[in-house]
Parts: sequence; structure tokens; C-alpha cells
Amino acid sequence: MVDQVRPLADEVAAAVSAAMEQALPAELASADPLVRPSDHADFQANVALSMAKRLGRNPRELAGTLRDHLVEHAPFIGSVEVSGPGFLNIDLTDAALLDRLAVRLTAPRLGVPASQADETAVVDYSAPNVAKEMHVGHLRSTLIGDALVRVLGFLGARVVRQNHIGDWGTQFGMLIQYILEHPEASWRSKDEDVMRAGTGGAVSALDELYRTARAVFDADPAFKERSQRRVVALQGGDAETIAIWKEIVAESETAFQQIYERLGVLLTPEDTAGESFYNPWLNDVVDELTEKGILEDSEGAKVVFFDDIKGPEDRPVPMLVRKSDGGFGYAATDLATIRRSIRDYGGTRLIYVVDARQSQHFAMLFRTARRAGWLTDSIEAVHAANGTINGPDGRPFKTRAGGTVRLADLLDDALAAARQVVAEKDPGLDQDELAEVARIASIGAVKYAELSTSRTRDYSFDAARMVSFNGQTGVYLQYTHTRIASILRRAEDGEGPGAAFHPELALEPAEHALGLALDGFGRALTEVATTLEPHQLAGYLYGLAKAFTTFYESCPVLKGVAPEVRANRLALCELTRATLAQGLDLLGIAAPDRM
Ligand code: ARG
Repeated sequence: MVDQVRPLADEVAAAVSAAMEQALPAELASADPLVRPSDHADFQANVALSMAKRLGRNPRELAGTLRDHLVEHAPFIGSVEVSGPGFLNIDLTDAALLDRLAVRLTAPRLGVPASQADETAVVDYSAPNVAKEMHVGHLRSTLIGDALVRVLGFLGARVVRQNHIGDWGTQFGMLIQYILEHPEASWRSKDEDVMRAGTGGAVSALDELYRTARAVFDADPAFKERSQRRVVALQGGDAETIAIWKEIVAESETAFQQIYERLGVLLTPEDTAGESFYNPWLNDVVDELTEKGILEDSEGAKVVFFDDIKGPEDRPVPMLVRKSDGGFGYAATDLATIRRSIRDYGGTRLIYVVDARQSQHFAMLFRTARRAGWLTDSIEAVHAANGTINGPDGRPFKTRAGGTVRLADLLDDALAAARQVVAEKDPGLDQDELAEVARIASIGAVKYAELSTSRTRDYSFDAARMVSFNGQTGVYLQYTHTRIASILRRAEDGEGPGAAFHPELALEPAEHALGLALDGFGRALTEVATTLEPHQLAGYLYGLAKAFTTFYESCPVLKGVAPEVRANRLALCELTRATLAQGLDLLGIAAPDRM
């Protein structure tokens, strides 16, 4: 049985390449055929223009030669026209399209080939900090990373999730010292705060305490000194200190997990390998880098210098691997993460989904790992950088009091907004249904707003706009899914044949366009895998939903059509439903049957 289908766009590109081999000198024949979707035809190939220029030939004439080859050798192409200065407008036959859609309808995974089957992707994402509340900054990494994990996994990659939480560092000395000196400070979670997910009673309290401790630390030299001794105790494994540290970490992890569950992201406690996890290997990393002659001494510290990584005034910026007091920091720990991802996990793609402001850190990290011989040419290491989320006014997101905005509060805002629009759209829902639909819609809305933006761009968090039923929103896509589900339910109740593609039928333009969109699913996923940009999938799904809407407005499905037309249109509905549901799932968004 055939269960993998190449997207027709790829077949068209291959056919144009084959035609180029016939028509062009060998050194030009392997150029990119420049095949793109087009408003004037199913696809347009622009390659004749650039090639004619290089050969000093007439572009329309060269395009004509390519056309003749295409028409003769690619039976799935229905017509090729030379237009304008030498574009090739390529249309596919309805039969070719229907043929492939029929396979997709029954094939596992909608016929998408397992193009990442040879890869092991280690994806480092989310990575919030202990004793601090998860704030909006961590939302992006969490959602983008989760979508990448899902897509790469769907394409057959072995995926290792890594949550590198910030659970170590000198700041814990200060916090623990303060807690020991103030036993009355209550921060441990109590049974009664089986908290609203994500508000993390204990973590809010810790966040407060942390700020108080910081103020005392800055104002009181004696406390500062006691805190510094506490750091030494923590690093030395002092039992009392470690016990409190462990409690703090555990409270934070519980709160993180609540947020993950509320968001429906895949991270579990088993995926956590925080900064402290790497402590036992840091000396070893330093030894290895020393042996390899990569570390230099700089005022007692161990650092790595690079020729081309420079700061202000062109001064070289080193990576600080070991401080002069012997302590390790973020850079040393990440050297240990990359070494482990390669050695222990056999990673072939190492993906760090982290704020763009850390790009210099990752540039240094990858460079050092390459010098150490850990990173080789067969391994790809990427900093999948994300931009910032701004407030609705487009300015950095702050609470009215000027503090950072808590993630849990944002989700509450989205929930309230979703509740309102859902209640207006469907006043018949009872309280429980409304609560559930609003929950699904609000999480979908937040995720879609995130994932439909290019990850490097900044965007504004605007709860009211996110939950709209119109425009490019998660709610619109979920709603389209429910509409199709309802058509399919009615079809089951009514008379007539069920869904089945009929390749002998001639399609209406809107059917053909929808079919073409459906065939492009795998290509959108490949784009995500290569660019690590989930918005390629988010944008694709929006296009698909619009193609469906146009189809449904012009093509009756259940009534007044011949039986095989009904069957074919139902098959289009069913495949659209399945593709939307699968695509949304890969973005981590639920596809409800009713809303
Ligand atoms: N905890 C860090 C932060 O909040 C992010 C860690 C990202 N992962 C890594 N391997 N460096 O900025």
C-alpha cells in the first residue's frame, strides 16, 4: 500500500528540473527551478528568465522549450502556459490532485513522509527560573519549543526535550540566608492552597521574599557577608542549606508543572535537567577544554576568546568559563549541556529555544563546542531565538505597578475575553459547557497568537484580539473545525453515500484550490523543520481554513448534488477536518467538535 505522498509542489519542481536538464547546459541544469504557488495558476516557475539572461537567449523562447518538455513528460500537469516576459504558469490535472488526496485520506499521518527519521533533535525550551514566577518572557520559548518538538516528532525525528531551569547560583545563598533568619516568613505551600493553576502560592511568596532579601543584601553589608558564606555552604553541600534549597526547587517545579498542564505543553518533570544537574561535570568540562588548549587565563579566571566576537570599542568579549574564585556560571553549565546532548543523546540537531538577547552566549557556546571537537559538521546547533512580547500598547509589558506580568494572569485575561465572545456566539451553552469551551478557546488563542508570529519578531499581547472569531486567530481555526465536524455529522444522519474521492470528476475552481491546499500540508511541516519557524504551519492552516470557507460558500455538499459529487465533497470536508485537527495538534492547540 502506498502511504507516503510527495507534495505536488515538489513533483512540479522535480519536473521543471528534469526539463532544465534537457534544455540547458549541464552547469545550469541543477539550479533552483524557482517554483512557487501563484495567483495566476497552481504554480509558477520563473527559472527561464534568469537562465535566458545568463545564456543570452530569448526568455520566452526558452520558457517555450521548457514547456514542451513538461507537457510531454509530466502527466500530472494539465497545462503549461508561457506568460509575460517568460513565466511558466503550471496547472495540475484534477485527476492527479484527487488521486493523491485519496491516498492522504486513508494513509497514516495524512501521507506525510517521515523526512526527519534520521535525526535526533535535542530541544531545550521553556527554562524558567526557580523561586521566580514564570513570566511572559518564558511563554514564547515554551510554546515555540513545544510546537517544534511536536512537528519534528511527527516527521519521524527522535526528540529529546530538555528543560534547563535556573535552579543554581549565588542568588540562592541570599534567599536561603534570609529564610533561615526569618523563620516566621511563610512561603511553603499549604494544603488549602490547592492553587488556581499557575498562581503558585509558594512561588509568589518566594518571589516576594527574594525581592526583600535582595533589598537587605544591597543595604546591609553584614547580611551580604552572611549570604556569601551561605553560597559557600550551598556549594559545599551543607545539609541544612541543601535541604532548604531542595524545598525551594520542589515548590517551583510544582508551579511550573501546573502552568505546563494548564497550557497543555508536553514537558514533564523527567525533562528537567536544570543548572544544578550539571554541577558534577563542570570540573571535567574545564579539564577537557584546558587539555585541548582552548581556555586562557585572564586575571585568574578561565575564559575563551574569539577573533570575531567583540563588544563596545571593538574589545574582544570572552566567554567566562570559570570565575577567579573558582565558581562556575551559566556558560560553563551550557558547555556541559551541549556536550551531553551530543555524547549521551547522540543529538544531530541541537535546538536552544531562548530569548534573542542571549544570542552572543550561544554564538560563543557553539564556537567553543566546535573547537572542542564535540560539535562536528554532521551536527547542527541552532539558537532558535525568540523576540519579546509587548503589552497591548506595543511597549514593554509591565503591570500597572511596573512589575513583570505573570503568565498566569495573562492566561486569566485571555480566558475572560474568550468567555465573553463564546457566550455571545452561542448563548445556548450551559455554564459547564461555556467554561470548557472558553478554556479551550483561550489556550488555543494564546498559542495561535504566539505561533503565527515569526519567532524573532516582537509582538503585542492583546487578549481581546486573540479571541476573535474573525481574522487570523486560533478561535477562527477551531471554529472552522467545528463547522466541518457538524457537516460530517449531518451527512451521517442524512441520505446518500459517505466520503470518497472520485478521481474521474471535474472539479470546480474552489474545489481544486482546496485540494491543492490540502496537498501542501507536508510541505508546510518541512518548512517548519528547516526554518524552525512554527508560523509556517500556523499560516498554512489559516490559508487552508480560508480555502475551505470559499469552497463551502460556492459548492453545496449535502443537498442538490449528484451522489459522486456529494461523496467527493464530503471527502474534501473530511480531509480538511483531519488536516486542520492534525495541524492544530502540532501547534499544541485542541480542535473541538463543537463550540
Ligand atoms: N533560565 C534561562 C533564562 O531564564 C534560560 C535557559 C535557556 N537554556 C539554556 N540551555 N541556556 O534566561
